[in-house]
Amino acid sequence: MKKNLLILGIETSCDETGAAVYHPEFGLISHALFSQDHHKYFGGVIPELASRSQLEKITIIVQQALHDANVSLQDIDAIAVTNKPGLAGSLLVGVCFAKALAWTENKKLIGVNHLEGHAFSPFLEHCVPFPHLSISASGGHTALYRVDGFGDFTLLGQTLDDAAGEAFDKVAKMMNYPYPGGPIIEKLAQEIHFSDTRSYPRPKEKTLNFSFSGLKTAVLYDLVDQGAYDLHTREFLRPEDHRLKQEVASSLLVCIGDIFEQKIALAYKQHQDIKAITLVGGVACNKYLRQRLSTWSNNHNLVFYAPSPQFCTDNGAMIALVGYHKAHRGEFSNLLLDIFE
Ligand code: KG4
Ligand code: ZN
Repeated sequence: MKKNLLILGIETSCDETGAAVYHPEFGLISHALFSQDHHKYFGGVIPELASRSQLEKITIIVQQALHDANVSLQDIDAIAVTNKPGLAGSLLVGVCFAKALAWTENKKLIGVNHLEGHAFSPFLEHCVPFPHLSISASGGHTALYRVDGFGDFTLLGQTLDDAAGEAFDKVAKMMNYPYPGGPIIEKLAQEIHFSDTRSYPRPKEKTLNFSFSGLKTAVLYDLVDQGAYDLHTREFLRPEDHRLKQEVASSLLVCIGDIFEQKIALAYKQHQDIKAITLVGGVACNKYLRQRLSTWSNNHNLVFYAPSPQFCTDNGAMIALVGYHKAHRGEFSNLLLDIFE
């Protein structure tokens, strides 16, 4: 295998430590990931714990990615690293590590925006036609983009408050489930075939921005009205009521499905030249949401793509891929690369 032009990608923006090696001809040739799970006891990511864990894992994860790709650091041409947005301490671990490697090994350095990484993550497995619309939804952000090419994308709308994943995480937490809440919400909803018994209010505003805090509050007051949640002690009072948990989870998921579909439909009206729809970010692991957008796309003669779950959540592969395209365009960073917006 030709071993030049190799990109090492590093991702440490939150609670995942990822590293990957990307080859221009063969694509992704390795990727290694460590997911922290101690945050589940706290109902969300604790920044101080996240950055300490990043520091503990980064060397071994980068070594593993290089080993699995059967290359050495000397074979690597450029090091791509997530430099924003994310948790400051976690980002600093990856950025300082990448800078140190770039400096000592005399490699090119490429700063990659984490959201750009998610936006292009479907290209790890598919050749998605341009232009397309992309919903990017995770625990930290929710946004809608028009994507015209590599490095050429426009933000059409974003959340004004909470992220979609945060709505799943917070509602799960209200019902005593650990972080992350998305997978358990999906499981509960599936058990009652995604029925919408509680019909939470849909946003009336016809813009491309998102808002999930009202929905989260609607769920909270629904639980309070049912005598299932104590606002003062923040205690879930009906842990044995599985049916209630199923109904809340399912109605929340269906509501978020409606919101995603509504935003895509509105964006499509304004961007009739688009050829495809993508769903990316941790929330894109959700099979129900994938199915909803896939069906909508089929009905509008558009193709739908979402990455496989391993590339929906944070990973080094998407950073290596974007790094490759930036290198191709000659967009390198210097050692002053920082983590600020
Ligand atoms: O992209 P990601 O790994 O990290 C961030 O950048 O935030 O996304 C994590 C988010 C969490 O909010 C988690 O609850 C959500 O993705 N998530 C899901 C599912 N799996 C993970 N949300 C809905 N359904 C899922 N199956
Ligand atoms: Zn992410």
